[in-house]
Amino acid sequence: MSTAAWQECINPDCRATYDISQVLHGCTKCGNLLDAAYDWDRLPVPKSLKEFERRWSNRRDPIDFSGVWRFRELMPFVPEDKIVSIGEGQTQLRQSPIVARYIGVDPSRLFLQYEGMNFSGSFKDNGMTGAFTHAKLVGARRVACASTGNTSASMALFAAAMGGIKAYVFIGSGKIAFGKLSQALDYGGITIQIEGDFDDAMERVQQVSSQLGIYLMNSVNPFRLEGQKAIMYRVLEGLGWEPPDWIVVPGGNLGNSSAFGKAFIELKQLGLITKVPRVAIINSTGARTLSELVNARGLKWNGGHVDDGIINDYYAYLDEHKIRAVTLASAIEINRPVNLKKALRTLAFTDGVVREATDEEILDAKAKVGQAGIGCEPASAASVAGARRLREQGLIQKGETVVCILTGHQLKDPDVTVNYHSAQGDAFAKAFAKYGVKTARFRNMPVKVQNDLGKIIGIVERNDE
Ligand code: F0G
Repeated sequence: MSTAAWQECINPDCRATYDISQVLHGCTKCGNLLDAAYDWDRLPVPKSLKEFERRWSNRRDPIDFSGVWRFRELMPFVPEDKIVSIGEGQTQLRQSPIVARYIGVDPSRLFLQYEGMNFSGSFKDNGMTGAFTHAKLVGARRVACASTGNTSASMALFAAAMGGIKAYVFIGSGKIAFGKLSQALDYGGITIQIEGDFDDAMERVQQVSSQLGIYLMNSVNPFRLEGQKAIMYRVLEGLGWEPPDWIVVPGGNLGNSSAFGKAFIELKQLGLITKVPRVAIINSTGARTLSELVNARGLKWNGGHVDDGIINDYYAYLDEHKIRAVTLASAIEINRPVNLKKALRTLAFTDGVVREATDEEILDAKAKVGQAGIGCEPASAASVAGARRLREQGLIQKGETVVCILTGHQLKDPDVTVNYHSAQGDAFAKAFAKYGVKTARFRNMPVKVQNDLGKIIGIVERNDE
């Protein structure tokens, strides 16, 4: 095993290190999160990001084809012959005048990083290729995760693709969009539906996997986040290696925002970028822990000396008032994000901000992404809704380059989309009142008509006008 890579506690007062081959859910000394860490001086790092372009002409090699591993020098925890890849990360950086106008920025400066193009339909495949690579390295035969649906879809898919691996999926009751549940079932995941929500499932999966020695695939796993750094490398690639002014990303368990920050810290350290984009993390108002802690309670990274008291007080308050996360962006219906501290590090390093978007704003933004011919699931549209808010607040300037991350595919959660466009009256209230959604501004109602040629033609003609 190369000693140029190891695992390291993020707590500066601890900094305990562990071998890459160890399977850990956190630091065994102080309980904080672990990073994959590298001695870059001993590793072959490119002199410029442009050097990665040589991989484009070698697409027949699976790891050069992978949208994650073609950047393998930036996540060098494993020898090349040990990499597990299904060709993940064939994503696009798209532009859309409709969405740019909606946000209020110059259409030439707005980009949508569409992660729905991954095999399992969400960004999670970027992380799973990293974590499954590590799982294979340590000989894991059983894997587990708690999930709001996308982690489990991706994990079950990778387990099925690798073969010989049992995938245990922990989900909360009634808390998972059908598209995602259908994936876990289809890929043969053993799906355990716990009475409770994601936060409950997350706690249990950590206990169960520790007790039974099952390999944990949630984003407390540092190797998942190594893979998710590649989303930022592809964004830079799409922009000709020129960092944007803003990266806007939905915040749930805060794995993405944590990985993005680590990517930029390392790229800066390696002299591969000079400018660092500001990362804006968008919570749903129904799952607003990060926003509350950072904006209302003043929680900061503080060089790694995070004030645990602020976090514990807030969690005690949530418990005391029996407050659970409630948002129709079910993917981010999370009140106890496991990567909280790493996300604080991202905010500190990138001069980042946290904002909230209401479910109604999220749904309207989602409809705009649909009108753009891209489409995404509700949680993903939090990035667009958040960018619009940041623009309104004057934080994002009109001429700045903004990249919104669209984390998941449109087909993940068809129920929400169909209800938004077609439910009326009581049916609309039943679907949305609980989430504070009163109107669907960009509704596209199906038109009901008798099976009568004249009447059908009449409808088409009226729409032609
Ligand atoms: N968008 C989508 C579509 C997601 O599925 C998730 C997380 C997020 C955003 C939030 O990302 O956790 O990195 O802040 N889904 C997890 C899951 C929790 O279980 O699928 P994050």
